[in-house]
Amino acid sequence: MRLILAPMEGVLDHTLRDILTRIGGYDRCVTEFVRVLDRPLPVRVFYRACPELLADGKTPAGTPVYLQLLGGDPPVMAANAHIAAQLGAPGIDLNFGCPSKTVNSSDGGSVLLREPERVYGIVRAVRLAVSPQIPVTTKIRLGFHDSSLFEDIALGIQAAGATELCVHARTRQQGYLPPAYWPEIGKVKPKLTLPVIANGEIWSTANARQAQAESGCTDLMLGRSALSFPDLAQAIKAQHAGEDYTPMPWAAVLPLVLQYAATLEGRAPKYAASFIKQWFTYLRRQYPEAETLFQHIKRLKLPTDIRQVLEGHSP
Ligand SMILES: Cc1cc2nc3c(=O)[nH]c(=O)nc-3n(C[C@H](O)[C@H](O)[C@H](O)COP(=O)(O)O)c2cc1C
Repeated sequence: MRLILAPMEGVLDHTLRDILTRIGGYDRCVTEFVRVLDRPLPVRVFYRACPELLADGKTPAGTPVYLQLLGGDPPVMAANAHIAAQLGAPGIDLNFGCPSKTVNSSDGGSVLLREPERVYGIVRAVRLAVSPQIPVTTKIRLGFHDSSLFEDIALGIQAAGATELCVHARTRQQGYLPPAYWPEIGKVKPKLTLPVIANGEIWSTANARQAQAESGCTDLMLGRSALSFPDLAQAIKAQHAGEDYTPMPWAAVLPLVLQYAATLEGRAPKYAASFIKQWFTYLRRQYPEAETLFQHIKRLKLPTDIRQVLEGHSP
């Protein structure tokens, strides 16, 4: 089985990709989306989204990072995919799932799911623009208003030559409201030959098992849960192999948060405090200790103050 670390704009940057892939269990990452409008983007935009391009397109742990593009114009998407591939991206991922109003109003993300032929056209153009050795993967939702076009979209993506299809098992309309409808993937998957990856609301090993059973997919993508349960990928792989696994205790997670805080202080001091708190908002879901600590840091503005509190609670 393969586990993929989801793209999460404004959350999962290369620092967190590094931390999470070092823990292990992930076979691939996908960058935050790079928004493509009407022209080829300067190379600095690609390096910003994917600093791993300077290191063979892999995290320091050796996990490949596919570069995600979001946009609605086939030739311009193709041109940008070509640049990303030239810069060494090990794969190109295409975003057809983003629900953001801003993104949708500029003709990208899930709004395209209303028009399966446009999705086909974008995938086809990108597929033809990069060497056949470079995977072109796609990420969709079940649909925009409802899932009535899901099968058409999936078959079109396959016909366009995509390497894989990842499905966030909800429509744009359903936003992020639980549950995720894994059985909807299960209805269409038997009609496809390309590998399909199930995504959405997989917070635990039990959820992973259920998502696999209901979607018919062995491969899964983990997003928010990768932040709340940093070794979930390891736990799922152990379950799959029939091995016992003891999840990381808080005492092992806190040093990772401190490492994250220290890196941010050096790299993005202005935003460091809010990014640290952001990770805590996810960790609170899994660790009561994170909830307690969050109460101590939530009003602090300086990363150094936050780090002092965290260090004070280190075992
Ligand atoms: C804050 C946030 C940012 C996201 N950014 C992206 C993105 O840049 N590209 C993308 O394809 N999906 C993005 N997603 C969707 C996730 O990749 C994933 O499909 C969704 O969160 C459902 O999976 P989960 O329940 O495992 O989190 C984002 C989700 C969240 C919560």
